[in-house]
Amino acid sequence: MSHPADTHPSLYDSLQRFRRYDLVPDTPLVTGRLTRMVGLTLEAIGIQVSVGRNCLIINRDGREVEAEVVGFNNDITYLMPVQRVEGLQPGARVVPIDRRSALVMGEHLCGRVLNGVGRPLDGLGDMNSVSRSAFKIQEINPLQRHPIDTPLDVGIRAINSLLTVGKGQRIGLFAGSGVGKSVLMGMMTRFTSADIVVVGLIGERGREVKEFIDHILGPEGLSKSVVVASPADDAPLMRLRAAQLATRIAEYFRDQGRNVLLLMDSLSRYGQAQREIALAIGEPPATKGYPPSVFSKIPELVERAGNGEKGGGSITAFYTVLTEGDDLQDPIADSARAILDGHIVLSRRLAEEGVYPAIDIEASISRVMPNIVDPAHLARAQQFKRLLAKYRANQDLVTIGAYTKGSDPELDEAIARYPDLMRFVSQGMREGASYNDSTQQLQQVLMRQGDHGS
Ligand SMILES: Nc1ncnc2c1ncn2[C@@H]1O[C@H](COP(=O)(O)OP(=O)(O)OP(=O)(O)O)[C@@H](O)[C@H]1O
Ligand SMILES: [Mg+2]
Repeated sequence: MSHPADTHPSLYDSLQRFRRYDLVPDTPLVTGRLTRMVGLTLEAIGIQVSVGRNCLIINRDGREVEAEVVGFNNDITYLMPVQRVEGLQPGARVVPIDRRSALVMGEHLCGRVLNGVGRPLDGLGDMNSVSRSAFKIQEINPLQRHPIDTPLDVGIRAINSLLTVGKGQRIGLFAGSGVGKSVLMGMMTRFTSADIVVVGLIGERGREVKEFIDHILGPEGLSKSVVVASPADDAPLMRLRAAQLATRIAEYFRDQGRNVLLLMDSLSRYGQAQREIALAIGEPPATKGYPPSVFSKIPELVERAGNGEKGGGSITAFYTVLTEGDDLQDPIADSARAILDGHIVLSRRLAEEGVYPAIDIEASISRVMPNIVDPAHLARAQQFKRLLAKYRANQDLVTIGAYTKGSDPELDEAIARYPDLMRFVSQGMREGASYNDSTQQLQQVLMRQGDHGS
């Protein structure tokens, strides 16, 4: 196929600009043509590029759009734009480019806010201006991973003491809308003992991204964190990229031997972005409207967190999962629960009672806790949960006055202790609780309450 390459006014300029970033491969340049665009899906002919590679689509008017190859059918290559597109024309030029080494990793990322392709959103200067360091993801053999054996202080009393999280653990944060996910993540960022926090804000409303950074994180939280944000109006591919970039940055710091806390809000929106892409290229939906690739993308992302090899750093990760209408049976919630090492459930009822963070202790579990805390601590946590469960099971009877004090000594104790238990799990937004303080206070709250029984 012959293209009037020399009559194309913008190709040369565009490529020069991308060549500066080493994105244009040295191999002979083969360009294709855009033949079809339906919804988000672009179809091109004339290129043979493997899935996952990037192309630059250059309009006749010089506008450029970056797109990723997401599939093919004989001679037709399917692409998805990384950014929202408008005004693409049939016959636009499709140029394969290389984008593997675009973002420079390093300490300079701290305190920065980036989008899904690593461009700054905070107006604090270009990321590419720093000299490039070789960056390669180390694939970790699952058998070489250091086991989860040390607690991580996340700065939240209820989690530190009752749902202890280990370095390298991956936890789901299950919650409906508006019950305090963002505030909880902001508190963890400010109060954790992790060396660095990477926050992925995927598919949030744009206004919330700003609010999270300015008010919930604040300058104090932001100074030791890297934020990668892709709001809901970004193209689905951009949202996927943002989650992957956040994970990549976390991997980088882990490979430097650091203990990283990765907070991803939300895994559900990540799954939904993959769903949009998969449906657009014709993958049939299988589980409640979700195509199968969604359920392979999620573990692919989550498996990258965790511990490095012995002596290396760790990525402890929290993934928020939206449970609309507090429905825990949603397919994404289901698959997330199966692959994560524990889940923390935020309850609307507690939030309505004014208990913040609204952690439903009974419904939450840290699967690694028994392996990482001492037996006395574990026993105390279990005692706490038993008391709480006893109260909750009888709460309705108690509140309507149908329970007569004295008929169940265990319940009497639970009733007497309940206000203290709730005070223990409550924690103000500006208040940190270190791991040692949390475990000591757990001991105190149970001792103090032991007196009620007599
Ligand atoms: N620790 C806390 N102390 C006091 N109030 C809190 C606390 N945590 C959350 N809240 C209250 O709950 C509200 C909602 O919290 P947040 O924005 O974190 O919820 P969300 O789950 O992220 O919501 P969305 O689903 O909209 O993202 C806050 O505006 C605040 O009033
Ligand atoms: Mg939120």
